[in-house]
Amino acid sequence: MSHIKKPAVTSAPVHELIGERWSPRAFAATPVAREAVVSILEAGRWAASTNNSQPWRWVVTTSEDPAAHAAAFECFAPGNQRWAKTAPVYIFALARKTFEANGNPNGHSWHDTGAAGAQMVLQAGALGLVVHTAGGIDRDKIRQTYDVPEGYDICCAFAVGYQGDPDSLIEELAERERAPRARKPLEELVVGAGFGTAASVLK
Ligand SMILES: Cc1cc2nc3c(=O)[nH]c(=O)nc-3n(C[C@H](O)[C@H](O)[C@H](O)COP(=O)(O)O)c2cc1C
Repeated sequence: MSHIKKPAVTSAPVHELIGERWSPRAFAATPVAREAVVSILEAGRWAASTNNSQPWRWVVTTSEDPAAHAAAFECFAPGNQRWAKTAPVYIFALARKTFEANGNPNGHSWHDTGAAGAQMVLQAGALGLVVHTAGGIDRDKIRQTYDVPEGYDICCAFAVGYQGDPDSLIEELAERERAPRARKPLEELVVGAGFGTAASVLK
């Protein structure tokens, strides 16, 4: 069995944790040690956030508690269940909609929860783990299953584990697993003196 690698093709070097990260669908059944899960959560906890509001909350299940893990699995959309099924760790990211200090809406809650998520994904990579994020989840079911209050949005799920054998996937997914990764060119993303103009930093 050989694990697929899909390093980012970049116009300037990036840290290997960033370059090597991608979203695999094949997970090995190997369990993830509790310490590694906590390390991932700590990486999220120490993210920057607006006014240090820390709007993120996480629901976590692992294969060590099969009943709880099976209930979490049911919260993935059917299309995502096809690949999420063997991942030994699931994390659902929630974002508090308002500031605890004054009750005002926090317009940055998704940004900050996403930034924390990015740190968690990179920490997982540093531990030799892979992560596949999923926005295709049953939010009503998550709210109900975990008593998530109305004041929290349900952002996404992370399936975490050790990379598995692509041959364990159904053909359609195995094909996507092997497909190259692509990105828009920087020229399309970086704005110059005005929107739509070339950015001098790239010249
Ligand atoms: C917020 C978010 C939601 C996503 N939702 C899904 C999803 O529901 N199903 C899926 O297969 N992949 C999902 N992905 C994975 C993306 O499709 C993937 O990150 C993107 O195609 C780039 O590929 P890469 O991560 O391998 O570089 C999601 C990623 C993010 C960040």
